[in-house]
Amino acid sequence: MANPQNLLNRGYFWGAILIMIDVLLGLQWGDEGKGKIVDFLAAKYDIIARFQGGPNAGHTLYVNGTKIVLHTIPSGVFHQHCLNLIGNGVVIDPVTLKKEIENILTLEPAMLERLFISQKAHLILPTHRALDAASEAAKGSEKIGSTLKGIGPAYMDKTGRNGLRIGDILSKDFAAKYEKLKNKHLEMLRQYEHQIDWQQWEAPFFEAVEFIRTLKIVNAEYWIDTHLAAGKKILAEGAQGSMLDVDFGTYPFVTSSNTISAGVCNGLGVAPQRIGEVYGITKAYCTRVGGGPFPTELEDETGEALRKAGNEFGATTGRPRRCGWADLVALRYAVMLSGVTKIIVTKADVLDGFNPIKAAIAYRVDGVETTEFPYDVCDAQLEPVYQDFPGWDNPISECKTYDELPQVFKEYCTFMEQYLGTKIAYISNGTGRDQLLHLE
Ligand code: GDP
Ligand code: IMO
Ligand code: MG
Repeated sequence: MANPQNLLNRGYFWGAILIMIDVLLGLQWGDEGKGKIVDFLAAKYDIIARFQGGPNAGHTLYVNGTKIVLHTIPSGVFHQHCLNLIGNGVVIDPVTLKKEIENILTLEPAMLERLFISQKAHLILPTHRALDAASEAAKGSEKIGSTLKGIGPAYMDKTGRNGLRIGDILSKDFAAKYEKLKNKHLEMLRQYEHQIDWQQWEAPFFEAVEFIRTLKIVNAEYWIDTHLAAGKKILAEGAQGSMLDVDFGTYPFVTSSNTISAGVCNGLGVAPQRIGEVYGITKAYCTRVGGGPFPTELEDETGEALRKAGNEFGATTGRPRRCGWADLVALRYAVMLSGVTKIIVTKADVLDGFNPIKAAIAYRVDGVETTEFPYDVCDAQLEPVYQDFPGWDNPISECKTYDELPQVFKEYCTFMEQYLGTKIAYISNGTGRDQLLHLE
């Protein structure tokens, strides 16, 4: 625990708080390449902390050429100097977490020494997964396209004040608490026609709970505070993307947590004035997986070509991602919501060979042009207004420095910076850790 006198001496309580938490989050509908970038940035941080979402996330990184997909564990786990925290805002499926840990242990045997879990993070029960599946099936053609990991039902129990938390697994009456909540879920499941064989998930759940009991479960907000007071550098890692935010995304086709920077405060227990740099990631084009509006979607051969060139298949579910052009209207909205200070553009190499390249700079909503992201995006007749950019010949994938990038792509980046009012800090041009061009 930090010594209050030391904190006072450091000016910790006075006016300007010097020790900040940086944030990295997605600006689109997820899968912007957060895993790769966090893995890269982790070299500069002492702690990586996930603040929301759960096993619906799939963050890909390559370690010594081996592909790893992380779902619940922060993407700093392969850096030996980094501690990793799963914050209170995350919902945890013990079974997925155990599997993920077992996988990582084969590559990184000391990882458990550096993994910490908030006692306030909520649990995903087998019956949450069953409720997710039953609810989606009942929606028919209106379904969200959920990853079916139990995310929505688990967050519903959290806000409904019924949920079970990681701290509960340490209590003697955990089994009774579990039974009580399970029975509530069974009542709810009876209302659905769609029946799910959730019982098969119960034994692995309890086995995984036993395992999780042995991990480092901490009072995370104090844990963070103590590390900040010791001058440690923390990066908060977002999951999903800004347009999937439960308040500001394309509701109801969203996830069930706050994916924007505000989510860091209640997902980790840090004060708003502690938020420092906010890195916002966007692909050089755009993708979405699951249902819901996607104004710049290309349901033609160009969309198909983007999917092929970008290998756009979900890291968690394997579903093909819907593809389209960059949407600067939605991006500017996301930058505004999170107070993004630095943009990172990923998958620039995927645009090699496309000509022209387009970006939406406005929408025509029911015939009226606007640059605001509309409330009724799910129902309105919406047509993007595009700006065209010429393609290029020399492949971006082969560039080693910013200067080597094709002039027309640099012009596309400058246009983006001006439209978004925010500087681009990095351009990613491949899956590898080293395929990242620094602009500053
Ligand atoms: P996340 O959920 O934001 O971490 O992103 P995902 O891992 O779900 O999806 C991003 C995919 O793009 C992964 O397969 C990455 O390996 C890949 N990727 C990341 N950056 C780049 C890049 O600059 N170029 C290419 N071609 N692929 C990239
Ligand atoms: P990462 O962190 C892309 C989408 C689902 C669905 C909607 C709701 O890898 O970027 P949920 O399971 O949360 O109830 O699904 O949100 N979705 C994602 N799409 N990347 C993700 O995470 C996603 N997590 C959820 O496809 O449309
Ligand atoms: Mg992903």
